[in-house]
Amino acid sequence: MAQSFIPVRENIQHMQGYAPGEQPTDPTVIKLNTNENPYPPSPRVLEAIAAVTADQLRRYPSPDARVFREAAAEVHGLTPEHIITVNGGDELLAYAVRAAAAAGDGVAYTVPSYSLYPVLADMQGARHVHVRFAIDNADWHMPEDAFDHLSGKAGILLITNPNAPSGTLLSEALLRRALERFRGLVLVDEAYVNFARRDALSLVHEYANLLLLRTMSKGFSLAGIRFGYGVGSPKLISELHKVRDSYPCDAVSIAAATAALKDLPYAASTWELIKTGRGRVAAELKEMGFTLPESQTNFVLAYVPEGHDAAHLYEGLKQRHILVRYFRLPHLTNALRITIGTPQQNNRLLEELKALTGR
Ligand SMILES: Cc1ncc(COP(=O)(O)O)c(C=O)c1O
Repeated sequence: MAQSFIPVRENIQHMQGYAPGEQPTDPTVIKLNTNENPYPPSPRVLEAIAAVTADQLRRYPSPDARVFREAAAEVHGLTPEHIITVNGGDELLAYAVRAAAAAGDGVAYTVPSYSLYPVLADMQGARHVHVRFAIDNADWHMPEDAFDHLSGKAGILLITNPNAPSGTLLSEALLRRALERFRGLVLVDEAYVNFARRDALSLVHEYANLLLLRTMSKGFSLAGIRFGYGVGSPKLISELHKVRDSYPCDAVSIAAATAALKDLPYAASTWELIKTGRGRVAAELKEMGFTLPESQTNFVLAYVPEGHDAAHLYEGLKQRHILVRYFRLPHLTNALRITIGTPQQNNRLLEELKALTGR
């Protein structure tokens, strides 16, 4: 007789796992659905990977990716003690939730935002505390007092800045207000910050409850190797080291990520190309009748013109071998999230959207 008992916690049995964007195997598909950088990583990255020795593979890697932490400390004007490295930014989110929210505590997060946050709260058996954007079609803003009354209701507050999927940036004043009023860990998820006009790095010196998330996946074209890092006060970072894996980052990814970070001018040149492409795509979409919040990321959220249906356009693009992201969620059912690609990819996208909308 089949055993009906499932030996995992009840909250795990009741939760839904994270649903990532599609990863097509057909290389001819134009992939504008998961916000990867359309340009290759610095040539130094492949050189660094090729230089990894058999001995490095035979042995365990540095448990705290010391060379990367030193490189990041230099780039950011901090010390290695301000930095923790992880196997992709997602892992930092998991560590932070694990460290700051016990089962039954609250996990507060901005809504709509990164759909991994509720999944992590579920894994922990924590309660969800929503901090909602005020949304009127393409106008997204966070009410000034949104973060004022969370103390005691949550152990951690997750703020995506710039936000996904809107691409919008919160003011520094609002971040300060969250850091000052919320008695808990404030994780500012800066996965897309390389495409934004400002970051929150300087606040690390002022607020001991601030943890910044950085990833090598977007700005540094390394989504395939899985490497991210957290930045915070040395005391906070030392607490996070206690809850991490024994060796979160492998020897190959440490070599690759360090080479990429050290070749900052190369990565920055891709950011400039993407920002130029973003301006052009946004302008042309507006001309076609789409409305868009102002993006500070490598994607745009485009609300479709009157008389058109976003799900239909998503399918139409897919049939034409272009993948974008469509969310069947409140405030998003009439929008497409589109990653900025190379000029050629952007042209194809715009041409096909013109054909599909007749504009
Ligand atoms: C808002 C946000 N945070 C964090 C991540 C995690 O990135 P990664 O795990 O690739 O470093 C992503 C990835 O899409 C994201 O969109």
